[in-house]
Amino acid sequence: MGISFWEDPYPVYKNFQKRSGVFWDDMLEVWVITGRDAVHTVLRSPEVSSDWLRLNAGESAARDFPALERMLRGWFMLMDPPGHTRLRRTVQSFFARTRVESLAGEFQDVVAAQLERIRPLDAVDLAEDFSAPVAGGVLARVLGVPVDVVSAAAAHMGTIAGFLALPHKKEFAAQAADAVGRLDGLYRALAPELSPDSALFPLVGDDPAAPDDSFLHTAHLLSFAGQETTAGLIATGLLHLLREPALYKEVSAGQAAPEAVVEELLRFDTPVPQVPRVALADLTVEGHTIRAGDRMLVLLAAANRDWRNSADADVLDFARNQRHVAFGVGVHYCLGAPTARGAARTAISEWTAAFPAARLAPETVRWAVGTGYRKLESAVVRLA
Ligand code: HEM
Repeated sequence: MGISFWEDPYPVYKNFQKRSGVFWDDMLEVWVITGRDAVHTVLRSPEVSSDWLRLNAGESAARDFPALERMLRGWFMLMDPPGHTRLRRTVQSFFARTRVESLAGEFQDVVAAQLERIRPLDAVDLAEDFSAPVAGGVLARVLGVPVDVVSAAAAHMGTIAGFLALPHKKEFAAQAADAVGRLDGLYRALAPELSPDSALFPLVGDDPAAPDDSFLHTAHLLSFAGQETTAGLIATGLLHLLREPALYKEVSAGQAAPEAVVEELLRFDTPVPQVPRVALADLTVEGHTIRAGDRMLVLLAAANRDWRNSADADVLDFARNQRHVAFGVGVHYCLGAPTARGAARTAISEWTAAFPAARLAPETVRWAVGTGYRKLESAVVRLA
């Protein structure tokens, strides 16, 4: 993929979707699922698996790095029921909408502290100076862990993401295994300090000095799944608004509901554009037979633009009915959706209200290459 794909992958997704809602790609050796209905069918099917070992059919370079392999097999996002259900249930109440809403004041504090820090500056980087620290601060509050642990963990997430995007690459597996070792050290040291209010507390087990594997695996998963995604939504969302001054003005003046703004941004530039799956048995989707063992790339981002049914899919419009699949569908539906929504609504409303005259320096926009999610690496904004 050339650089332009990472800057704007939507022309490629559009060609994919125009080809078909479901097709076999010879080069990638996967079924590509692009249609909204097909995405729902696949992600809701009990014949479709998210299991790490099945997804990689034993071909991943992680098999040479036992700690890395054990960790990925321990992420409930990469498990099928019933193992998935059991682990997800252990933490799910901490991420429920009502609990997250009760933390709204703390989210406000995280955003306000970051805005105070940057307010005296002439220009700031959207990613480094705002979206990353806000996402880290919010995740730390929801998990009930110190923010420096979450920030230290964040430093390793790019390495793990790089490996997950290309799991057959041995050098990426070696780097990811090293990152896992460091993360283990970080969370092992944290276990004896955790308060019973922490989302991770129920997983520690009887001896905090030697915490259960499920504690370490889930701590890694939540650090991975919760930070770059939320940071991506905030940074990418603000970038798109800054590129459309009339919309930016509307949002900064409080004339658009933050809920509608964030849902439309999730649809328009989907932070997790794709999720992998593998068929456990033969299944038929839009007339195509997907055989047991076949792999699938489910393109949430393509389904969200829905070009086949919508003439204005490429337009940002807060008034549309934003039925999107940005948080997935079915049993793996994003556990952190209320957290991400709360963080992004607060961050985007407060930033735009604080800096109504902000202007993007377009030549500074840089996108990360080779990650499985949308990551704005940097974009400089002049604040006044
Ligand atoms: C804008 C932000 C976010 C987006 C776009 C997003 C997107 C997604 C998507 C698409 C999935 C489904 C994966 C699949 O079907 O294979 C998912 C799952 C998950 N997300 Fe999020 N996520 C976000 C934020 C968060 C946050 C803040 C957390 C934690 C605090 C989180 C934790 C998880 C977990 C644990 C799963 C696995 C759920 C399961 O397998 O049952 N996410 N997320």
